[in-house]
Amino acid sequence: EKGNYRHFMQKEIFEQPTVVAQTLRSYIHQVDQSVALPQIDFDLSRINRVTIVACGTSYYAGMVAKYWFEQFARLPVDIDVASEFRYRDPVLEPGGLALFISQSGETADTLAALRHCKAAGQTIAVVVNVPTSSMAREADLLLPTHAGPEIGVASTKAFTCQLAVLAALAAHLAVKRGRIDREEEIAIVRHLVETPACLNAALAFDEEIFSMAHLIAPARDVLYLGRGPDYPLALEGALKLKEISYIHAEGYASGEMKHGPIALIDEAVPVIVLAPSGPLFEKTVSNMQEVRARGGKVVLISDADGIKEAGEGCIATIEMPKVHPLIAPLVYAVPVQLLAYHVACVKGTDVDQPRNLAKSVTVE
Ligand code: M6R
Repeated sequence: EKGNYRHFMQKEIFEQPTVVAQTLRSYIHQVDQSVALPQIDFDLSRINRVTIVACGTSYYAGMVAKYWFEQFARLPVDIDVASEFRYRDPVLEPGGLALFISQSGETADTLAALRHCKAAGQTIAVVVNVPTSSMAREADLLLPTHAGPEIGVASTKAFTCQLAVLAALAAHLAVKRGRIDREEEIAIVRHLVETPACLNAALAFDEEIFSMAHLIAPARDVLYLGRGPDYPLALEGALKLKEISYIHAEGYASGEMKHGPIALIDEAVPVIVLAPSGPLFEKTVSNMQEVRARGGKVVLISDADGIKEAGEGCIATIEMPKVHPLIAPLVYAVPVQLLAYHVACVKGTDVDQPRNLAKSVTVE
C-alpha cells in the first residue's frame, strides 16, 4: 500500500498536490471562476461571528483560517482548542457560526464542543476528512476534505486539504459579505487553482531537505518562528518534529522571541524561520539577526527574494516558490513536514506509529 515509499507519512506528504486539487474541485467552479460551497443552497451571509474549535494540527489549520476570515471577510473570529473551549463557558450569541475542524471527525473533545455549540443555537459547520464520521453527521454545513485515508499518525495531507477548504471558505464569505469584488474573486480562484503546482515545486526540495536533516537531528531543542498566517505553521512545524523525532521543539510568533525564548538561544539550538517575502519580512529579518547575534543557527525557509535579502549567514536555506499570501501556508507546510520526516528517519524512530500517540483521540 505504501508503493515506492518507505513510510505512509512520506507517501501522504507526496500525495498533497493530488488531494489538494481533488479537494479544491468541490469548492471552485472552473467555468465561471467562482468559489462555491458543496451545499450551494446554504446561506452564510447573515453570519456575524465565527468560533473555531479543534485539536492538534487541525487547530493550527483553524489558526490560519482566523487570519484569512478576518482579513478577507472582515469577520470576527474566536478560536480555541477543544479541551479548553468546552470548560470555559464561552459567550455564544445568535448569528454565530461554530466551525469544527477534524481529520477523523471523531475527536472526543471537538465532538463534545460541537454538541455544546449546537445546544447553544450556533450554526454548525465542520471541515472533516471522514464523511461518515460523527461530526459530519451532526453538522448543518458539511465541508469535506478529500484527502483520502490518512494512515500516518502525524497529520500531513489532511492539514493542507483543511487549509484548501478554509481558504475557499474565506473567499466565499468575503464574496457573500461584499468584501471582495468579482475581479478579486477571479484572482483568488486563479491562485487556488495554481496551488497543486506550487506544492509540487515545494516537494522538489525533498533531497535538499533530506541532506540538511543531519544538521537538526543532533539538536535537543529546536525553535520555529513565523509571523501572521505563518505563525501557526511554526507551531505545526514544531508539533511535527516533536511527534515523530522526539526532539523538543517550540513554535513562536517571530516578534515574541525577544519576550523570553531568546534566552534559550545558543549554538546548539537550530532556529527554523518561516518567512515568505512581503511587507513584514523586514521585521522577521531583524528577529533573525537577534538569533544570529547569540550564535543561533538559522534555517531560513523563504522565497527567492527573501533568501537574497536575508539568506547570508544562515546554516541552510530552503527556497519556496513565490506565492500569494493565501497560498503560502499550504506551500510552507511541505518543507516543515519533510524536515520532520527526514530528521525522524535519521534518528530511526517509528515514523508512522510514534510512541504514545494514537491516530484518533476518542477519549477526553
Ligand atoms: O482527527 P483530528 O483532526 O480531530 O485530530 C486532531 C489531533 O489529534 C491531530 O491533529 C494530532 O495532533 C496529530 N497527531 C497531529 O499530527
